[in-house]
Amino acid sequence: MSKKRVLSGVQPTGNLHLGNYLGAIRNWVEAQKEYDNYFCVVDLHAITVPHDPKKLAADTYTIAALYLACGIDLEYSTIFVQSHIPAHSELTWLLNCITPLNWLERMIQFKEKAVKQGENVSVGLLDYPVLMAADILLYDADLVPVGEDQKQHIELTRDIVIRVNDRFGKKKKPILKHPDPLIRKDGARVMSLTDGTKKMSKSDPSEMSRIELLDPPDAIARKIKRCKTDPHKGLEFDNPERPECHNLLGLYMLLSGKTKEAVAAECQDMGWGNFKPLLTEAAIAALKPIQEKYDEIMSDRDYLETILREGREKAELSANEVLARVKSALGYSTPL
Ligand code: TYM
Repeated sequence: MSKKRVLSGVQPTGNLHLGNYLGAIRNWVEAQKEYDNYFCVVDLHAITVPHDPKKLAADTYTIAALYLACGIDLEYSTIFVQSHIPAHSELTWLLNCITPLNWLERMIQFKEKAVKQGENVSVGLLDYPVLMAADILLYDADLVPVGEDQKQHIELTRDIVIRVNDRFGKKKKPILKHPDPLIRKDGARVMSLTDGTKKMSKSDPSEMSRIELLDPPDAIARKIKRCKTDPHKGLEFDNPERPECHNLLGLYMLLSGKTKEAVAAECQDMGWGNFKPLLTEAAIAALKPIQEKYDEIMSDRDYLETILREGREKAELSANEVLARVKSALGYSTPL
């Protein structure tokens, strides 16, 4: 039996943080041998909010290098850049004309980001989930490993599949494949260091709210030292009145590789003064090998470019085939 197909991606907007790593990339790495994987740097998504053209290309290489540094293995996985494959934009247009506007207006992430943008909300920001649907559908993906915040976008993708197949497909020969989200409970929602009720996010104006994968040890120590805590005695998981405590213990659990039970027992009588150095040490130790590998990869630009070129060549075989299938079903003729 052939392996199930996985597709996922990260936007090249600044650096990756622990949320991106623990909610997504770490899970891609751990399961990659089981699947046929496609990991995309979604640079077309990065311009749905105002962006700096001088940084876009550099950030795109940074994310591709971080995929490799985190352990993506080219024996099992293909890495490519979204904008290198025109089929992503073309399928988005076709799906745009099939997707009702009010489906997009309901998207939680759109509403949250739109509030931040004020008058500057672009059509692209509204349309972003359709582009994401195109990313997934072009690879006939079975599974999409993501953090909790992307679940609604995958549900929308499934609704688009139903609509396209119902309107243009034949009963026994669907045009598009239904993808399923793959969301692991642990790490699916890493919270901000400055507010345990808010998601850790690249767009938070305060750098103190997130630990980035390329943060040097002294920055990690500073951020953890200053992170928000509470005045209660002892440390515990799952107390809704202590969101920071739950989040920080969860980070310690994931970064140290210990079980929840072991962490709960180790920390139940601790105060913050004892716990923070432990968490700092675990974070520095977990990120050190990633940072060393990253430096190595970034010192050889030709290597990275070769990987992205080969990734594009492989990915576009699937993308072009699915695009041709959709175009033909919609009635387009393709000249020979
Ligand atoms: P992006 O770039 O915002 O985030 C990349 C991945 O990181 C996860 N994530 C988190 N997980 C746990 N806790 C957090 N605080 C946290 N913050 C982010 C996200 O869920 C995501 O898995 N729209 C997507 C990118 C995308 C995509 C795709 C993903 C475009 N096309 C196709 C999958 C398939 C996004 O903006 O992710």
